[in-house]
Amino acid sequence: MAENSYTYSNQDVGQGRGVYISTYGCQMNVNDSDRMYALLEMQNFTPVQTPEEASLILVNSCSIREKAVHKVYSEVGTFRKLKEKNPDLKIGVGGCVGQQEKDNLIKNQPMIDFVFGTDQIDNLPNLVAEAYTQKGKIVSAKFEHRAPYHVETLVKNPGVATFVNIAKGCDNFCTFCVVPYTRGREKSRPHQHILTDIRHLIKRGVKEVTLLGQNVNSYNDEHGTDFADLMAKVALETDIERIRFTTSHPKDFNQKLADTMARHNDKIMEYVHLPFQSGSTRILERMNRNYTREQYLEKIEMLKRSIPNLVLSTDIIVGFPGETEEDFMDTVNLVKEARFETIFAFKYSPRPFTKAAKFEDQVDEDVKTERLNRLFDEHDKMAFELVKAYEGQVMKILVEKTDREFGKVQGRSTSNKLVHFMGSPDLIGKTVDVKITKAFPAVFRGELVQ
Ligand code: 5AD
Ligand code: SF4
Repeated sequence: MAENSYTYSNQDVGQGRGVYISTYGCQMNVNDSDRMYALLEMQNFTPVQTPEEASLILVNSCSIREKAVHKVYSEVGTFRKLKEKNPDLKIGVGGCVGQQEKDNLIKNQPMIDFVFGTDQIDNLPNLVAEAYTQKGKIVSAKFEHRAPYHVETLVKNPGVATFVNIAKGCDNFCTFCVVPYTRGREKSRPHQHILTDIRHLIKRGVKEVTLLGQNVNSYNDEHGTDFADLMAKVALETDIERIRFTTSHPKDFNQKLADTMARHNDKIMEYVHLPFQSGSTRILERMNRNYTREQYLEKIEMLKRSIPNLVLSTDIIVGFPGETEEDFMDTVNLVKEARFETIFAFKYSPRPFTKAAKFEDQVDEDVKTERLNRLFDEHDKMAFELVKAYEGQVMKILVEKTDREFGKVQGRSTSNKLVHFMGSPDLIGKTVDVKITKAFPAVFRGELVQ
């Protein structure tokens, strides 16, 4: 049962009605949608696969990059016919656009019945009950600043590998990022709750957890447990087989954390997603990232010394205000120097409330596009070569599910490579040796070693 501060007066709001959730954005949103489905099922809603079958449609939106609000309006627009056919249909918008736009959404798109913010998920059953009984529109987007962050993971089908929220919000205020405004202040869950959660998930067949937060390294609970302590506890005090985490901030990635990863390398996976955003110290300063290019490179050296097989991935923004060709080349060169096998790169997009949106030296859209393409081209040249080295290697793969291709299964290596190979569904949940036969940057093919 959800451990939250809400009580639900009516346990049968759903009366069997279908609920469909359309999810955008990051893993946090995917996790939130799982939670919404679970909470609504407790109120007798039935999850359905298409909006056509639903009497409740929720859009769990994302506002990290451009056209966020536009995407919500255009998706809700596609539900017009459904609403005409089914007067019982209610449409709610949640997630970061809900938090950011609040009642504006309803003013601009009258088909929306209610808007709920990122801190209102546990209140969703009450909002939905109101939406069905009340005539007016509802907007609920308060941050629960004073409430502790106590949420048990709620997910109906956790599968083999699942996500566990350990912290929410962000206090870093990178000048490009909307998250501190849409997710509020940073809060950590007490470590005992996280351990209990993971033990419950293990009983349900989970073998791997990814500890999730906007900035996991600044995890700090009311008992003074920091992120390294938390990881050690998860490794030592639960029977979980694999531990991952995301996302890390370079400024907070310290030797203690690297040592903890190395000490528990039987369980903590040798993969770190460490966004550097820009290779130019001048731009990093304007981004308020609190590290220089050199400090980032030192951090990854430190990590590779502690964890020799470590695989890194990263996030990059091109065309941040004031970025010159020289700054951009610093980014390209950092990608080459660090030899990232995987990069996630984006064109800078001005976000509401953020400092950088008001900077006067915005970069032309054409220049951003050209730089992004050039960055991907440069990375492609390198990445195909880098991953070739995996061909012929045997990797330990935790099998997660059957593949779309008949007779195949898929899973991940300790270094987070997605691998497809011929195998029976009985292998799901098991860790097996797989020899890599073909390696592309995003996906590997292999064969089971008997
Ligand atoms: N424009 C472009 N990319 C952004 N990101 C965050 N905010 C913006 C923005 N305004 C990227 C960062 C972050 C990732 C999740 O999204 O690279 O690490
Ligand atoms: Fe956004 Fe920076 Fe916080 Fe990450 S650390 S969520 S980029 S403000």
